[in-house]
Amino acid sequence: MPRLSRKDEHIINRLKQSTGLADFSDIHFIHNCLPERDLDEVTLETTLLGASLRSPLFINALTGGTPLARRVNAILAGAARECGLPMAVGSQMAALENPGVVGTFEIARKIYPDGSLWANIGSYATPMMARRAVAMIDAQALQIHLNIPQELAMPEGDRRFRGALKRIAGIAAAVPTPVIVKEVGFGIAREQALLLVEAGVAAIDVSGWGGTNFLALEGRRSRRRLSREMLSWGLPTAVSLLEVISAAGGRAGIIASGGMFSSLNIAKALALGADAIGLAGLPLRLALRGGRRVLVRAIRRLEEELRMIMLMTGSSTLGELRRAPLVITGFTGEWMDRRGIRLSREERVSPPV
Ligand SMILES: Cc1cc2nc3c(=O)[nH]c(=O)nc-3n(C[C@H](O)[C@H](O)[C@H](O)COP(=O)(O)O)c2cc1C
Repeated sequence: MPRLSRKDEHIINRLKQSTGLADFSDIHFIHNCLPERDLDEVTLETTLLGASLRSPLFINALTGGTPLARRVNAILAGAARECGLPMAVGSQMAALENPGVVGTFEIARKIYPDGSLWANIGSYATPMMARRAVAMIDAQALQIHLNIPQELAMPEGDRRFRGALKRIAGIAAAVPTPVIVKEVGFGIAREQALLLVEAGVAAIDVSGWGGTNFLALEGRRSRRRLSREMLSWGLPTAVSLLEVISAAGGRAGIIASGGMFSSLNIAKALALGADAIGLAGLPLRLALRGGRRVLVRAIRRLEEELRMIMLMTGSSTLGELRRAPLVITGFTGEWMDRRGIRLSREERVSPPV
């Protein structure tokens, strides 16, 4: 199947997939009945990759390469501009091989000239390809995606994965922007997070299990459905976030994504130590079903509820939210015990880049 029609099938099949909400139900806030703060003092400001952002939310990598993808990128970029959020474009590998589709990515820069836009490539890219992807949209950061389960589920997917870490280190040394390594919905564990930090990446986006499920999407596309058990493969977003924070907290920016569709889950991820929150399936659905205005309204509602939650934990900044008391129970608590993960609040400070 050519890469370009595959991109449109991903969009269409994602709309058919149920929403998928990351499970943070083992993480509990404690209500503070005496916060001694006013709601208008509560700010969502955060720092990521050395830049200060007015909100921790951003639109994660989705698409590019086809007329439909161009339309989606235009809507996403319009919403990102209106809300002042960063936005990542989808994998630019297609445009690096076929200059005819460069415009489907460039549209994001046209619509959001002064925005923080992030380029996106696969881990088989060369440093030269990485530099071209950054230049294509004049990007402020570069995402490198890791998607082995997805490749394995695609009949035409890659089967050779040696050398990715070395290539990532080469790219991190060669591009002018910070590099973010991300999954696409299967999560990142502590062991690999450590290797990535040592390879020089500036931030890690856990993109865990619980939202978009590429094993299900590829199964539907190729009509070669996998067994039910296989569809639960991956590290849930909350667990992956704890894993990555324990390895890379204070050494790299930490991003939570993967089913981050609710304000309460977003608040919990930030309280655990995420510096930013990536949204992909939700903005795609809203962009196509309702357009820019509906998407902007949904982002504003998430931000408004996030500020309410912060106040109810006695926090007026995200730094204070990270110090608000939390209780971690059940499966997630047990996972932390078995893996020897302890959360020290100091670990959760993102370093300057
Ligand atoms: C239709 C679709 C296309 C995607 N394409 C890319 C891509 O090109 N590059 C990438 O890094 N991630 C891609 N992703 C993954 C998202 O960036 C994100 O990691 C994943 O969907 C989990 O977040 P979610 O649960 O909010 O959707 C794609 C996701 C969807 C739904």
